Amino acid sequence: MSTGPLVVLIGPMGSGKSTVGALLAERLGAPYRDTDADIVAAEGREIADIFVDEGEPHFRELEREAVAAAVAEHTGVLALGGGAVLDASTRALLSGLPVVYLSMDVEEAVKRVGLNTARPLLAVNPRRQWRELMEARRHLYTEVARVVVETDGRTPEEVAQAVLDAL
Ligand code: S3P
Repeated sequence: MSTGPLVVLIGPMGSGKSTVGALLAERLGAPYRDTDADIVAAEGREIADIFVDEGEPHFRELEREAVAAAVAEHTGVLALGGGAVLDASTRALLSGLPVVYLSMDVEEAVKRVGLNTARPLLAVNPRRQWRELMEARRHLYTEVARVVVETDGRTPEEVAQAVLDAL
């Protein structure tokens, strides 16, 4: 019988979900899984292409299915895409799980990924878009998280340690 993920990482793009997730997996001796990678593998194309070809609502549907499969099957460290919490059904799938929100402020976000146009949501005005994105999502991250871990000014190793301490 499956026991569910050991930890589920949520938070904005660039908050370190994949880097910290891989470190945690190593420290816990558990496998790492990432729903963005699951979607890319299942669809055979990049996330940016899914956004452009079929739009964000379709991507959120694919993401909901990917999160449902991962929480049912995966018993290690799981990282979700930064916008997964926007979908109410996806949020419901996270209920009762050890969800950790890796939080980051707007200036840190701009510094880390602001000009990375490969991320489809940030192509035009990174600072303004970051501010809007954080304002729209912060309460959703908080709502589903069991624990909030600050990432500003911390290395991935320090964040991973803070997650382990908090679990
Ligand atoms: C998104 C974040 C991305 C990816 C997609 C949409 C978002 O994941 O799922 O580009 O809406 O914030 P990462 O947070 O892993 O970059």
